[in-house]
Amino acid sequence: MSDKSGGTREEKYVKYNGDYFRSVKKFDEENIDYLDYYREIMDFRVANDAKSAPVDPCTWEDGGKHQFDFLKVRGLMKYHKLMDLGCGTLSLGNNAIPYLDVGNYVGIDISIKAIEAGKKLVGESTIDEKAPVLIQSDVFGFDVIDFKVDYIMAFSVFNHLEIKYFAYFCKHVKNIIHGETKIFLTICHEPVRNIRPVRATSYQYSLDEINNILKLNGFGMKIVDTEKYWGRITMQKGLKRLKLIEVTQ
Ligand SMILES: C[S@@+](CC[C@H](N)C(=O)[O-])C[C@H]1O[C@@H](n2cnc3c(N)ncnc32)[C@H](O)[C@@H]1O
Repeated sequence: MSDKSGGTREEKYVKYNGDYFRSVKKFDEENIDYLDYYREIMDFRVANDAKSAPVDPCTWEDGGKHQFDFLKVRGLMKYHKLMDLGCGTLSLGNNAIPYLDVGNYVGIDISIKAIEAGKKLVGESTIDEKAPVLIQSDVFGFDVIDFKVDYIMAFSVFNHLEIKYFAYFCKHVKNIIHGETKIFLTICHEPVRNIRPVRATSYQYSLDEINNILKLNGFGMKIVDTEKYWGRITMQKGLKRLKLIEVTQ
């Protein structure tokens, strides 16, 4: 199938992503573990462009700023502990680390290369001064966290994962929150779920499916009107397909 810009979808991946596409093929052919595959893709992307955008059409800079401004409007203060789940190369961290009190930013990512690249982008002196907690982990069990967090942002993370990871997150997140913790995450919603990734690393789910998993774990959800916070950009490209969800307790 061709599109307007010429070439098949596969040809476009080869053109823009090189080895990235080869690992998509590997995933299909060798039935490798999805998280290993995804880590490989992140490592590849980071090596090529550490400022690879969280989601089209945002840049690394404005993607992080949008998230940060939103959290501020929703009450984030310096003394809060913020967990940036799937923190990538610290686009949110670039704004939140300088703002928050020492040790109050907690970034978790599957890719150590993303975390290392993010530290360089934020700058050594800020990292030394603000001592963010940066953890490489691919499970959402949170065993290594022995404190409660006030905010969780998982921006463009669960829309890249099989739904079983979302269910696992919902079950275990209770260990690291308190009654007032605010939780925000994105999903890519479609009426019909796909069990294989579409477009390399995208997964989409119906809102009912997400709501049911949340309910089973004692949570509810509200859809955030992102256009109200971020304007018309939310109607473009990748952002258009994402819904920002507030998980309610
Ligand atoms: C599209 S990027 C978004 C990064 C960041 N939230 C941002 O807005 O710039 C998705 C991130 O989620 C991370 N990720 C995916 N699965 C993960 C998992 N199971 N545990 C931790 N991080 C994960 C990826 O490595 C990647 O950095």
